[in-house]
Amino acid sequence: MTEPDARAALTAAQRAAFAADGFLVLPGFVDPAACDALRARADALVAGFDPGSTRSIFTTDEQARRTDDYFLDSADRVGFFFEEEAFDAAGALRGPVAGSINKIGHALHDRDPVFDAFSRTPALAGLVAALDVDDPRLIQSMYIFKQPFIGGEVRCHQDATFLHTEPDRLIGLWFALEDAGQDNGCLWALPGGHRGGLRARFVRTGRATRMDVLDPTPWDDAGLVPLEVGKGTLVVLDGHLPHGSRANRSPASRHAYTLHVVSGASAYPSSNWLQRATPARGFV
Ligand code: FE2
Repeated sequence: MTEPDARAALTAAQRAAFAADGFLVLPGFVDPAACDALRARADALVAGFDPGSTRSIFTTDEQARRTDDYFLDSADRVGFFFEEEAFDAAGALRGPVAGSINKIGHALHDRDPVFDAFSRTPALAGLVAALDVDDPRLIQSMYIFKQPFIGGEVRCHQDATFLHTEPDRLIGLWFALEDAGQDNGCLWALPGGHRGGLRARFVRTGRATRMDVLDPTPWDDAGLVPLEVGKGTLVVLDGHLPHGSRANRSPASRHAYTLHVVSGASAYPSSNWLQRATPARGFV
């Protein structure tokens, strides 16, 4: 009996497009019911979250990213991060917690059974194998709310700035849990921009972090294209692809779930902000 061809999960044309563009859009990869189930689980997690004195904010200015202990310790926990605009000038929440959360991260896929099941499927394992990731490991997960009216901008960046391996190999899996268009803050990407090298590294030393600029050339914002996708679409992102999203000023949310996959064959430096107590697992 011959082994099934792992590459069969993607056509040759799809693999060529991913190599050329640095991203691949796969409409209908996830069943709408699975999107709804993940969303319901995220809502339940938020409902059970008592912020107390926790006020960790996901700031969109990556160079000023707030790196408090809560953020660093979320590497293998389920942490909740607020929208920057969720607070008034006095530091009080403007509205209910449920409408104020920017994202949940960064070990949902290990800590929560619903997210675990969504993240570890044969379809995903096959897809990542087709991209030639040797010994894939699920290093990070995030549930992103992109809240109505206050969903913050995410400036153009490369994910490998925040998750660097040697050799550098990072795949981002971005699942649209709702329709994502320009009005509610869809992804924007720079086709082919993944071939220009890594321009910055977010470096951790102990409990401190800093941004090391490797190449100060500004991004070609005019070259960014909107990735307007329907609910259930999977967008696969090369770790070096420049991408971001604009603020959501619309009345519609734009929920998305992201997974980041590294190769167990690459070294994972201690200078990455995300340091887990236990090794990242693969798809099984
Ligand atoms: Fe990103």
